[in-house]
Amino acid sequence: MGDHRRVSILERLRVDKPVVQAGMGGGISRHELAAAVSEAGGLGTIAVSGPAAIRRELAAVRALTDRPIAVNVLLPFAQPSWFAAAARADVVVTFWGRPQRRTPGVWMHQAGSVEEARAAHAAGADAVIVQGIEAGGHVRGTTPALQLLEQVRTALPSGFPLLLAGDIATRTDVDRALDAGAEAAVAGTRFLLSEESHAHPQYKQRLLEADRTILTGLFGLGWPAAHRVVPNEATERHLGADGEAPWTNRVVNRMSGVGARHIPAAVQARLVARQRPESRLLTPQTATDDRPASLVRAGPLYAGETVTRIDRLLPAAEIVASLSA
Ligand SMILES: Cc1cc2nc3c(=O)[nH]c(=O)nc-3n(C[C@H](O)[C@H](O)[C@H](O)COP(=O)(O)O)c2cc1C
Repeated sequence: MGDHRRVSILERLRVDKPVVQAGMGGGISRHELAAAVSEAGGLGTIAVSGPAAIRRELAAVRALTDRPIAVNVLLPFAQPSWFAAAARADVVVTFWGRPQRRTPGVWMHQAGSVEEARAAHAAGADAVIVQGIEAGGHVRGTTPALQLLEQVRTALPSGFPLLLAGDIATRTDVDRALDAGAEAAVAGTRFLLSEESHAHPQYKQRLLEADRTILTGLFGLGWPAAHRVVPNEATERHLGADGEAPWTNRVVNRMSGVGARHIPAAVQARLVARQRPESRLLTPQTATDDRPASLVRAGPLYAGETVTRIDRLLPAAEIVASLSA
């Protein structure tokens, strides 16, 4: 066993346990989940879109806990006003884009390659989250988590804080990450399957029953990027045996570019409400408990490879306790 007490970035933040709840966008991780994780001694993360929602969720979380809280910001969509709102969090985590310091406070960037980790370090990040290919949601990584951690550890100055995301669901997984030199482990899917997450109840049920995941680009309208999901009616309908989306979908997704931020919210909501498994226009919007249940069949059921090892929905505090003593 390594020395698990050297958790400098977390110590600096006054986080007791080496457990971080990943930001899960589209509103899956809001104040209830983030507060429960931070109250239990981990670091909870809010992931919502737009400055008003970020401010609202931060205010709600502060009413529940005075422990540190992170806000996750997706770079393809973020405007300067998002960072102004997120700066009130204790940590800002960025993902999917050129690492750039956008906050005066503690900044972590989630990276999927040695080059990206190097760029984040060079841009002044306080820590890098190394994301392995096993991860759920949008997958920047193309290398297994522990392998990439080793590569990044060698590439960056010794002692630079690294966290590990991907394949984290048990205390053994967390210990393995710490032994390999991570200061903390980041878990998404395990916390999606908590009572406090805002994933739709039928989405949670599908994940509890899942026996595999697929890495695909299918739900790429407005954000053509790889994502890991549990199969559903939409993937069964569109994907070949190799997980490849039909060329028409790929062309539509690519042409849409990162266009989602330019589509008015009302139009987006209509597109999402009309989305069916046979639709050609498949958005990245996932089934939260305040979106139409039709998205469980027609939208992305984001989940990491750990999903096959998780069979119970738990309160977030119990998950934190199960991951670290
Ligand atoms: C439902 C879901 C949504 C996600 N949304 C985001 C996001 O908005 N921002 C982000 O940085 N990472 C996001 N991720 C990826 C996580 O940061 C993390 O890399 C991943 O959850 C780790 O793999 P695991 O889910 O197997 O624990 C998401 C993951 C999931 C499962």
